[in-house]
Amino acid sequence: MNNFVYDIPVKVYFGENQLCHLGEELKKYGSRVLLTYGGGSIKKIGLYDKVINELNSSGLEVFELSGIEPNPRIDSVRKGAQMCKEHNIDVLLAVGGGSTIDATKFMAAGACVDHDPWDFLSEKWSPIEKALPIVSILTLSATGSEMDCGGVISNPETKDKIGRLAPPMLPKVSFLDPTLTYSVNAYQTACGAADMISHILEVYFNMEQDLYMLDCFMEGMLKTIIKYTPVAIQDPENYEARANLMWTSSWAINGFINGGKRLAWSCHPMEHELSAIYDITHGLGLAILTPRWLEYCLDETTVSKYVQFATNVFGVEASLPPMEIAREGIRRLSEFLFDTIGLQRTFTEVGIKEEDFPVMARKACGNGTLKGFKHLNQQDIEAIFRMCL
Ligand code: NZQ
Ligand code: ZN
Repeated sequence: MNNFVYDIPVKVYFGENQLCHLGEELKKYGSRVLLTYGGGSIKKIGLYDKVINELNSSGLEVFELSGIEPNPRIDSVRKGAQMCKEHNIDVLLAVGGGSTIDATKFMAAGACVDHDPWDFLSEKWSPIEKALPIVSILTLSATGSEMDCGGVISNPETKDKIGRLAPPMLPKVSFLDPTLTYSVNAYQTACGAADMISHILEVYFNMEQDLYMLDCFMEGMLKTIIKYTPVAIQDPENYEARANLMWTSSWAINGFINGGKRLAWSCHPMEHELSAIYDITHGLGLAILTPRWLEYCLDETTVSKYVQFATNVFGVEASLPPMEIAREGIRRLSEFLFDTIGLQRTFTEVGIKEEDFPVMARKACGNGTLKGFKHLNQQDIEAIFRMCL
């Protein structure tokens, strides 16, 4: 295990009836709050009224930015950053899923600079040295944005979807109330599960031999997702299922499982290109890609990791030949994603066309090589895309 720094300073209020602490937490950062949210789900579930009551009774001054899109657009970020400047905002309160929280992170950073926030993500890659403080209330278990310092923003004009990590964008406080996810429909619940699985597998699949504790932790999280996602789909108000999924979403990506190994990810860069052009749901793209990526990377040099995955996560019979065990592990993962939780299984079904493969593959590897579990160049990525048809 390499040296690493463990520092995940997000204060988490987990569970029901914790919003009574919202006012006191926000007031630590000032009195002028920019409340951000998406297309209205928070109004439907009564959360908006609760938040507004809490803010009013704490004497906070509230400004609002709604309509943040799934796969959030740079224009929403621009608006938010502008509002922060105009209204002299002290703290941002993001209420929603990963899209709302991600966009809010870049608004908070954009508020501290004079340039266009897209410069943080374009080739200019302007430094993110400061951001206004962010508090989040999570309503969808998936991305882990509530406990990491990353965000992903789309620019429809350039057909780009680009992510970036920057410590100043880490939320100061996150409220994780599983009951707020009772209203998440079966499709988004399944997409969230696929996203969490991918966050874990992007890290789990490496050939380092000394990560036993972290491997066990990751296998435990995978088993949690496999156990509870079908329960949450069938019984949306099952607290145990929603709570286990919510806490897993945070820990799958908050940095803990990296353990000093900074391997580049593979499926995420590929998926971001799908979302950039086709605006598909992130978790769905990952679900289609992940089993094919695993199939593509399987050979004699990597098979031992697949054996570990298949036997420890899916309980595949360990006495079979290694290649058979590995393939059975991939088959069980596909069965879970496409049959048990009902996600679509091919690019063809979701309308992704072969003619876009070269450009998407070239952008996914940044004109070079994705240095993940197995190094992938443009040809490799195109081959994986073809396996998804
Ligand atoms: O917009 P509203 O009306 O709120 O509806 C949303 C949206 O339509 C709805 N929803 C959210 N909470 C709900 C709810 N519906 C009913 N009840 C609730 N409680 O769900 C839809 C999807 O929301 P969205 O925020 O887009 O989903 P998700 O949390 O999966 O976020 C996806 C975005 O996060 C990025 C993705 O690329 C994508 O843009 N990611 C962010 C990461 C990070 N910050 O570290 C890492 C991830 O890998 C990912 O790339
Ligand atoms: Zn993801």
